[in-house]
Amino acid sequence: MNIYFYATFSNQDEFLASVKKKFKSHKIFTKNDNIKLDIIDVALVWKLPNKILKKLTNLKIIFSLGAGVDHILNLPSYQKIPIIRIKDPNMRSRMFNHVLSQILNYQLKLNDYRLAQNKQKWLDEKYTLLNKDLTIGVLGLGYIGSFVAKKLQSLDYKVIGYKNSRNKSKMLFPVYYKNSISTFLRSSDIIVSILPATPNTKNIINTSFLNQLKKNCLLINIGRGSSLNEDDLIKHLKKNKNFFASLDVFIKEPLLKKHQFWKNPNVTVTPHIAAVTDVDSSIDYIFTKFEYFRKKRKIKSDVFINRGY
Ligand code: GLV
Repeated sequence: MNIYFYATFSNQDEFLASVKKKFKSHKIFTKNDNIKLDIIDVALVWKLPNKILKKLTNLKIIFSLGAGVDHILNLPSYQKIPIIRIKDPNMRSRMFNHVLSQILNYQLKLNDYRLAQNKQKWLDEKYTLLNKDLTIGVLGLGYIGSFVAKKLQSLDYKVIGYKNSRNKSKMLFPVYYKNSISTFLRSSDIIVSILPATPNTKNIINTSFLNQLKKNCLLINIGRGSSLNEDDLIKHLKKNKNFFASLDVFIKEPLLKKHQFWKNPNVTVTPHIAAVTDVDSSIDYIFTKFEYFRKKRKIKSDVFINRGY
């Protein structure tokens, strides 16, 4: 089969080399090969430009080289070709580690000690809450969100979840749906948003959402920047000096140099690193799905195209 690889990762050369090794009996092409794109059967992509997709007229399957698929669904030339996204246990473990680090940083007030260290100041000890005293609201309970929620619960945090549609499998913690979002927001000490970018999630974290949270809440966004109305958060932070945010994703990435988030002492900015795609395990995952497709000649998309995830 003819395979096209396109990525915008800093380690894309290493990625490509591993793809070539794993798919050794197939031809792998990239934008550097001068070929007619209609010979391509399968594409492995991260942030593929629309002008390339438009020419992949015989494409049978698209693999997203990440967990998200918004970078494909947003392309005007995308037409219902099955999409397989990476569901990698390593990726969700990394996501969990990131979330835990941000929770502990807030819970143990570690930032205060760091700031005091900068001034060589020995702070008095501060009272900190135990895990069982904190309610973590996980917004979005898909492959990654449900894992993060379960792991947090195993560490004695009180976990609640929110999702758009009812789950087939039963969760071991309270889950709120649709109109019960207010109860979910009011009960949470920390919100972890792991929402995908869809028309329904756009700007979901806005002034009305933020006003329902506790005044000293921590908001962690590791889903997509489009879920958060950044201007609303900036206004909210001005009014609520004990409100904190840890943001890994932004409307525009890289975050603009002049963006107010950089210098806000209550905001932690990380550059979309909460869960980088793991080269070996993701290629193994893709290869298994690819082999299934090659043998059966068909594959079910694991993305609900009309829902957007
Ligand atoms: C990263 O944001 C991903 O979707 O994998």
